[in-house]
Amino acid sequence: MSLFIKKPISMLLGEAGESGKGLKRTLTAGSLVALGIGAIIGAGLFVRTAAAAAQNAGPSVTIGFIVAAIGCALAGLCYAELSSSIPISGSAYTYTYATMGELLAWIIGWDLILEYAVGAATVGIAWSEYLNNFLVEVVGTSPVPYEWCHSPFQTSVNGVGGIINLPALFIVTVLSLLLIRGTQESALVNNLIVIVKVAIVILIIALGWGYINSSYHTPYIPEPTTYTDHQGISYSFGGIMGILGAAGTVFFAFIGFDAVSTAAQETKNPKTAMPIGILGSLAVCTILYVLFAHVLTGLAPLEFFRDPTKGGEASVVAAIKEGMPASYSWLSKSVTVAILAGFSSVILVMLLGQSRVFYSMSKDGLLPKVFSTLHPKYKTPYKGNLVILILVGIFAAFVPGDVVGHMTSIGTLFAFMLVCLAVIILRKTNPELPRQFKTPWVPAVPILGIVACGAMIFGLGLENWLRLAGWLVLGFIIYFGYSKKNSHLNNPGKKE
Ligand code: ALA
Repeated sequence: MSLFIKKPISMLLGEAGESGKGLKRTLTAGSLVALGIGAIIGAGLFVRTAAAAAQNAGPSVTIGFIVAAIGCALAGLCYAELSSSIPISGSAYTYTYATMGELLAWIIGWDLILEYAVGAATVGIAWSEYLNNFLVEVVGTSPVPYEWCHSPFQTSVNGVGGIINLPALFIVTVLSLLLIRGTQESALVNNLIVIVKVAIVILIIALGWGYINSSYHTPYIPEPTTYTDHQGISYSFGGIMGILGAAGTVFFAFIGFDAVSTAAQETKNPKTAMPIGILGSLAVCTILYVLFAHVLTGLAPLEFFRDPTKGGEASVVAAIKEGMPASYSWLSKSVTVAILAGFSSVILVMLLGQSRVFYSMSKDGLLPKVFSTLHPKYKTPYKGNLVILILVGIFAAFVPGDVVGHMTSIGTLFAFMLVCLAVIILRKTNPELPRQFKTPWVPAVPILGIVACGAMIFGLGLENWLRLAGWLVLGFIIYFGYSKKNSHLNNPGKKE
């Protein structure tokens, strides 16, 4: 039995080609870009941007976006090469299994739970913030009481303690059930939402630009200092550390373009469609994000975004109301509705990504069979979706948004670093493998990708490093307790 046993590429490709009992191939390059943008624009833009400005960088959160985009583009080029040469479900997990062996593949698969499942919970919590806004502004009723829409680890400025985040739990449940109905149907709903979401971002940029107050942008990069919020949590604010911290925080906004690669097995002509899907969606979003963050921080002062009763929650709508004339109330109302729909599409793609990673791990015997049992009619791993629902539901209901947001970012950054490493290794071990898309300037691009993602991990600070370490230790316990003993590669006698 070996910890470093590698899954032969030929075996991977053979599995990808298996027909009949596999997942249905229904997605095209266009639907992949839509899937990507559907996953990308979400809570990172509409919630984490203001948090990063308030806690880390002020207006220079825009520079944080650029740093994060550079890291993502470098890792994206590596993802594109891997997904075009190994077009099979499972994303970074699958690539690592083929290049760096089972233990590292397990680590990555375990780590991807932070990206997809915990990420879905983060967006669910953000959805809950905007739901309150919707209830008050659009429907005209009272909001959900603080204790029923916050985690037990949160306290309001008036001293009310949270109990459970019910709206977050509600939305992840509804979407898990929708996903069980099948990818094709879900992609259709997703396409509609993507159009609305992009339209609203462009509208805010175009209409808000004229109301930017330049005094809120001065100084653009604040002096380095420490900021402590009303719950006593401290952050490095301003200067380079502030920008790196902001980059680590808003990095969340880019998560999702790699989720495209988890759908490779459901894609027609994946060799060309995957690189277009990954890099195309990343490029569109970067431009929109920088412009959007510039407008947002120009509409209201920093203190506004730091105050939980003003712009600390549902920050984009709050800033529109603060910085733009009352005649734009139609904009804040439509933004609220669009955001609720937009966040739903993000959660959907993240849940999809999670179930597909678990599907692959279960096929390999590293997780129980329940995660790869397909529904007889819908051909979706429905039992796995239900288990994932429980996991995501616990995070969404009981953990604060800031904590799950940072856990998602750090877990994903770590996965990206391993993906970059996998490209370098695969070029050496399997130089003959046909690669429809080749990462340029290897090893420079992957190495720079590792450095950029490492810098963002550094910016996220000690508390988050410890959370990542704790998560990985838990993963090791499960690997040695279950997965190693049940792995098909390590136990050839044992059958699925
Ligand atoms: N990128 C996704 C978001 O911002 C995860 O919500």
